[in-house]
Amino acid sequence: MFFPHFYFRKLCLSQFLMMRGNHMIFFDENSKIFYLENESMTYAFGIRSDLVTQHLWFGKRTGHDLAYDSYFDCAAAHVVKFPLDDGTFANLNHVPREFHQLYTGDFGMPSLMLERENGVRRFDFSFRDYQITKEKAPIPGMPSLRAGGGSESLSVRYECDGIFVTLLYTIYEDCNVVARSMKIENRSDTPIYLNRAASFSFSLVPPQYNDMACRTADWTAVYLSGGSGSETNVQKTPLSRGTFTIDSRRGASSASLNPFLGITPRETTETTGTAYGINLIWSGSFTLHAEVTANRCLRLSGGIEETGFRWKLNPGDMFCTPEAVLAFSTEGLSGLSWEYHTLYREHLIPTSFAKKPRPVVLNHWEATRFNYSGDILRQMVDATSEIPGIDTFVIDDGWFGKRNDISSGLGDWVVNEEKLGTSLREFSDYVHKKGMNLGIWFEPEMISEDSDLCRAHPEWAITTPNYTTLRGRGQMMLDLVNPEAVNYISSAVNRIIRDSHIEYVKWDRNRDSSEGYSPSLPPDQQGEEDVRQTLGFYSLCEKIINENPNVLFEGCASGGGRVDAGMLYYFPQIWISDQTDAHARTFIQYGASLCYPLSSHSCHVSRSPNRRAGHVIPLSSRGDIAALGMLGYELDIRDMSKDECQQISDQISAYRRDEPLILEGRLFRLSSPAESNYFAFELVSPDKTKVRITVMRQLELFNRTGMRIYPCGLLENAKYTCPELGISRQGKTWMNYGFTPEFSQGDFVTDVFHLINE
Ligand code: GLA
Repeated sequence: MFFPHFYFRKLCLSQFLMMRGNHMIFFDENSKIFYLENESMTYAFGIRSDLVTQHLWFGKRTGHDLAYDSYFDCAAAHVVKFPLDDGTFANLNHVPREFHQLYTGDFGMPSLMLERENGVRRFDFSFRDYQITKEKAPIPGMPSLRAGGGSESLSVRYECDGIFVTLLYTIYEDCNVVARSMKIENRSDTPIYLNRAASFSFSLVPPQYNDMACRTADWTAVYLSGGSGSETNVQKTPLSRGTFTIDSRRGASSASLNPFLGITPRETTETTGTAYGINLIWSGSFTLHAEVTANRCLRLSGGIEETGFRWKLNPGDMFCTPEAVLAFSTEGLSGLSWEYHTLYREHLIPTSFAKKPRPVVLNHWEATRFNYSGDILRQMVDATSEIPGIDTFVIDDGWFGKRNDISSGLGDWVVNEEKLGTSLREFSDYVHKKGMNLGIWFEPEMISEDSDLCRAHPEWAITTPNYTTLRGRGQMMLDLVNPEAVNYISSAVNRIIRDSHIEYVKWDRNRDSSEGYSPSLPPDQQGEEDVRQTLGFYSLCEKIINENPNVLFEGCASGGGRVDAGMLYYFPQIWISDQTDAHARTFIQYGASLCYPLSSHSCHVSRSPNRRAGHVIPLSSRGDIAALGMLGYELDIRDMSKDECQQISDQISAYRRDEPLILEGRLFRLSSPAESNYFAFELVSPDKTKVRITVMRQLELFNRTGMRIYPCGLLENAKYTCPELGISRQGKTWMNYGFTPEFSQGDFVTDVFHLINE
């Protein structure tokens, strides 16, 4: 039920609380402040005037007695003043708001920009009503968090001449997060254009306000960048006056910059201090801005990418932004990661897979690339089936249409029986008889010019009239804005999965979008192409993934080109990089873990020397690092010695023993490979009785003091035994006194320690 403006004016506080029966979202009718809160956190904003909603607080839990700080100061004559509905004027330039608009005397980064057909771009939105519910409505056409964990949702609605803007919020009892999105509806009788529609906006006040400290940065941005083969490396940048932006214009969240932004005061560490996070549940192009304003607030906003975005909203139409997840912790970056990991495991990743053991796969790609035949695959199946523990054999690229290299075949999802020597069903039966499941590779969003599909439907390829189409990996993109193309591809893929008894799918995307044009959109809607292409991808996911609820779908995009929370809604795990060198992987897994749970990182052991990096790394180290995600292998088992096969089998047994820790444990990043010679991850079981610490020393440096490990998150007074060291100590002794691991000789060697409380 919506509460109209006049209604809450009359409602007294205690009545209101009694009516609602719980306290997670609370509205103080006197101050008109909304408090969204759980045991440890408060997010607050208020309707300061019908025309101005002011953001007040996001952080540690407060009482219900916040007040509006001034900010409205109009003393200086040159200040541009905005007319309020009571006849007074206010300076909105410094007011932290829940959505920011240009043309209101606010010259900072806007989060909403609209335009009428007559060119008018000023919209003075006025508060209308709000609603608090236990339910959480899905965002139409795109992934979003599920309700649960005592969640509660709030929607606050504004209007300007028939145009409605609704801000949507959800808060959870079990995680320190606020999920936000925005809905814009056109109930007027003429079209309008949306030129910018951010999912969220809010501001942080400086941690210690000090006029004299204006030359130092109050905040640090922590974010993930890289490229194909070097994804999700952690970057840290001090923020000073001006706007810092991370974005992607590639039609995917991208390997270049990930849609995660951490914000910390200077003194925050891995385990101590305040940390904020922003992450988008969106797999397409995006923008996240962090602007240090003249009064040293940090104004944050973001969502879909803005460059070229222009969405026509006809009368009766509605536009919904993706959901942004704002997280808060007082336990440093590891605490922030814990909030995201818990939230995504509990409320985003499909529940049928989220906390369940996953397959240990053998994928032949790195061993054979396109050079394989049915005979070679069967030999590999035979060799793999001899290794207890590997339970799924995955056929990668090249099994369909005419596809012996990257130049042809995409879109022809018909089995190449000549190459396989049998039907896929017969091959599948062969794999199953050997005691394994079958997995298969698809790239459903693409089309090769040299394909039967392109010959039959050239209009389904994204091309720009009168221009030569840009190519990436020799392929073009399917126009997923066109529902016919989506229906055709989903039926073709579903037929293969259904007919061939397949349990696992690797879903790839091997190029960025680049034309900025959809053949199926009219000229005045071309500015919608980028967003609609991502919505088309989600509709393809709905039609394929929802049709096959027992199949595990793994996401991939030239490695980690699409590692994001939108993907996790459909894909419980993602191939986070084509880089399988265990040393480079420590950097990638370290960064990805900032936001995405280890259960979503697909990590495989590949050959040594590594194909890309050339490093020679022991099989034990490669296994230990891959076992910090969903373990798999990319080796040619036919070439492996008996000893190596035994080692692999032992690795898998050890992995299965510790799998609950990887699926549900709390992660502490004890050492960053970018900041020291050591990489170290610690996983602690939810009840704190079992701990696993994995350490890699990068280089053997002669005559140097080794690293000391200080475990975190133990029960202070409980006794923990380390079987590898043969030592028993109290939790507080392990945490305060630590221990120094000893490594065998050589570079890139690992050590694994367990601490067990029984
Ligand atoms: C991408 C993936 C690889 C492999 C190839 C197949 O590059 O990241 O793992 O599947 O495609 O073409």
